[in-house]
Amino acid sequence: MNTPQKQSALGGIENSFRRHRRTRMTAALRSMVRETELSKNDFIYPLFVVPGNKVKKEVSSMPGVFQMSIDETVRECVEVRNLGIPAIILFGIPEHKDEVGSGAYDPNGIIQQVVRAIKKEIPELVVITDVCLCEYTSHGHCGIVKGDEIVNDISIQLLAKEALTHAQAGADIIAPSDMFDGRVKAIRTILDANDFQNIPIMSYAAKYASGFYGPFREAAESTPQFGDRRSHQMDPANSDEALREVQTDIEEGADIVMVKPALSYLDVIRRVKDTFHMPTAAYNVSGEYSMVKAAFKLGWIDEQRVMMEILTSIKRAGADLILTYHAKEAAKLL
Ligand code: PBG
Repeated sequence: MNTPQKQSALGGIENSFRRHRRTRMTAALRSMVRETELSKNDFIYPLFVVPGNKVKKEVSSMPGVFQMSIDETVRECVEVRNLGIPAIILFGIPEHKDEVGSGAYDPNGIIQQVVRAIKKEIPELVVITDVCLCEYTSHGHCGIVKGDEIVNDISIQLLAKEALTHAQAGADIIAPSDMFDGRVKAIRTILDANDFQNIPIMSYAAKYASGFYGPFREAAESTPQFGDRRSHQMDPANSDEALREVQTDIEEGADIVMVKPALSYLDVIRRVKDTFHMPTAAYNVSGEYSMVKAAFKLGWIDEQRVMMEILTSIKRAGADLILTYHAKEAAKLL
């Protein structure tokens, strides 16, 4: 305890301060005191499914991310499983879009088909389906549009229908991403009424109206044709409101709550985790991924190092689960 104080040119003060560096001197010591450890088990890998056969088309703003047909998606899922990643989340791009997003709740829609194909080949892979209408509507909005309003109550009935068809196809977790009010309750109710009491809901609970979704909208072909999503997604300036959103989703039956995006909202992740102690997910979104890829391409950053630093920061902030396009690359390093 008491280090004898040596007289020196410094007048004996060299031992009177705390030496934080002692536990940083070797790799072994650093790993012993490390507080946050990333694991492959934290990752959920997003996939974009398109109609056709043998389609594998790179998203230009997201190097390394592809739109894939069902056959290619199943192949990709085998690779994901072999890398030790436990879960994927699926986004579908339908053959036809219409005003009411029929493709979303068609029992034979693109997602319903791909879920059946994946569960047949790789039953142990946890298949999560994103529930929203934006990829399926001709106007690109997440629900039904009347005049210039995105109508809440009709939309949540359609989302519930969509969720049910996903569960019937074999989805393991349902993930509503729309941010309409009452959707978790509507989905929980329809799932329970159809004997899917054991299917968890991972709700995009605090989802912000964010500029970081830009590249995703190219990948999912879901850019709104007019207006924006600010009447349902949250204002980036708010964080108390995020707690109210999360609380409502938990009350309505959410089993896992998500904060999205991740990096500009690390404070929100921490507040959500500390307030509710729920399994908490964070979505490391498309724009966050693309920025890393772009800076690397320009030779400005060390890609792997920055990627691991970002993922660690999201976990350190309180996320138990991370949805990330980096999942495969990160899993290879872990
Ligand atoms: C909506 C949805 C979006 C994302 C996931 N689900 C886009 C949006 O709200 O416009 C964004 C994901 C990302 O940017 O990586 N279905």
